[in-house]
Amino acid sequence: MGDLLLQRLAQARAAATQRQPTSRLLCACLREAILDGTLPAHTRLPPTRDLASELGVSRNTVLYAYDQLAAEGCLVSRTGSGSFVADLSADRFIATPPAVGAPVPPPEPVALPSGVSARGEALLGRVSATDVQWGAFLPGLPDVTEFPQQRFAQITAQCARRGPPALRSYATAGGHPVLQRSLAQYLRQVRSVQCEPEQILITEGVHQAVDLLSRMLADAGDIAWVEDPGYWGTRNILRMNGLQVDAIAVDADGMQVVEPAPGRVPKLAFVTPSHQYPLGPIMALSRRLALLEAARRHGFWVVEDDYDSEFRFAGQPIPSLQGLMPDAPVIYVGTFSKTLYPGLRTAYMVLPPALVDRIGAAQMELYRGGHLLTQAALAEFIDSGHYAAHIRRMRLIYGQRRARLVELVTQALGSEWLHPFDSNAGLHLVMAVPEPLRDTVVAQRAREAGVLVRPLSRYFESPAVQQGLLLGFAAVPIEGMDAPFGRLQRCMEPLRR
Ligand SMILES: Cc1ncc(COP(=O)(O)O)c(C=O)c1O
Repeated sequence: MGDLLLQRLAQARAAATQRQPTSRLLCACLREAILDGTLPAHTRLPPTRDLASELGVSRNTVLYAYDQLAAEGCLVSRTGSGSFVADLSADRFIATPPAVGAPVPPPEPVALPSGVSARGEALLGRVSATDVQWGAFLPGLPDVTEFPQQRFAQITAQCARRGPPALRSYATAGGHPVLQRSLAQYLRQVRSVQCEPEQILITEGVHQAVDLLSRMLADAGDIAWVEDPGYWGTRNILRMNGLQVDAIAVDADGMQVVEPAPGRVPKLAFVTPSHQYPLGPIMALSRRLALLEAARRHGFWVVEDDYDSEFRFAGQPIPSLQGLMPDAPVIYVGTFSKTLYPGLRTAYMVLPPALVDRIGAAQMELYRGGHLLTQAALAEFIDSGHYAAHIRRMRLIYGQRRARLVELVTQALGSEWLHPFDSNAGLHLVMAVPEPLRDTVVAQRAREAGVLVRPLSRYFESPAVQQGLLLGFAAVPIEGMDAPFGRLQRCMEPLRR
């Protein structure tokens, strides 16, 4: 055995591309000899002292190799009798590893499954998120460069110093109680939401809230109402969870609430009443009342997505639908993605008391939430007035940017290019593009010219789509607006002829 190992050790040393300890080389040679059957099961290995002197290495080197192979299950040691090659016949899954330093042979071609599930395939057929998430005029983005990063970092560091170890553990149901308290107070004051802190559930973005609600409040095959046009993210999550999506048309008063057709009563209805996404109208009071009445009568939940209502540039804030009446059948959803920045991935729901415990338990079970330290910092950020101050400051900035973009559109193209439902709010503007322009073609050309806009037609479910473009203005400083707008305009010129 000594000769065999001596020979293999020499080969391994020669093949090694970099210096390896002898103990590891010996270990690899022994392992190889065991796995390729050169040393069959039950073979007794020489005593460590003898092998060490045969190979001209230290006894410790051999001891290391034997110990390592015993730990791997290749050897068994019997006290007083020595070390024996283990019977590996049952371990058919063990492949012979290449000798240390030897070139790795190409793997046997194995056909790994490359398909995804049918619902995965369907999702991939509808993907709408872009692979670039920053730049003029990508819609839906706040100006993340204006976020008071230093102040937030200081607050986070203080929370980390003062807070208990549990801040770094998994979240318990609902999220951090201090943020639940701060948000309840904020939502009552600013959004007229009727809620107690315990009703608040912190989520990883609106996306997680929609996912959780659609899984917990509906079954596969159930129907959900969405607005048409509406947010594709919501539609995709619903469909991924097996729901059928009934798209309800939107006009200048928001969702055109209808009496559900027989057999098509929804379990959930998703609306953006304060600022319809993406067209911008405010849902009229009569429509709000009709929706709540239908929800009560047919027993479905309305999910109010209040994604960017903090940014209205004229008039009074629009009160929430949830707060319209006591015990409204509404689940309110809000997010820090637009007020602070989307990478925070922090949003919240206000759940009716009867659902709090069960949906909270499901959230813990499904996602094992965390980020309690960030939640504690957010609570402090809100309580100390920084949140409200940041929103006030950004409202001014965004209002000016919006005004400049409106000016650019009207001066360069004409006021008829502003969508008639456009309200003086939010983070994006909708441009109605006239025939013969196709919004998808314009968006593609613009992208090639380094300008990011989204085609309105992609937000529609129904085939009777409108052509338009969504232009995000919030993250584009006034002095940086003319150039990309000029490029967008130049992309359209040849297409208009
Ligand atoms: C209407 C609407 N709801 C929700 C979201 C996403 O929110 P979050 O970032 O919290 O998942 C968006 C993103 O643009 C949106 O437009």
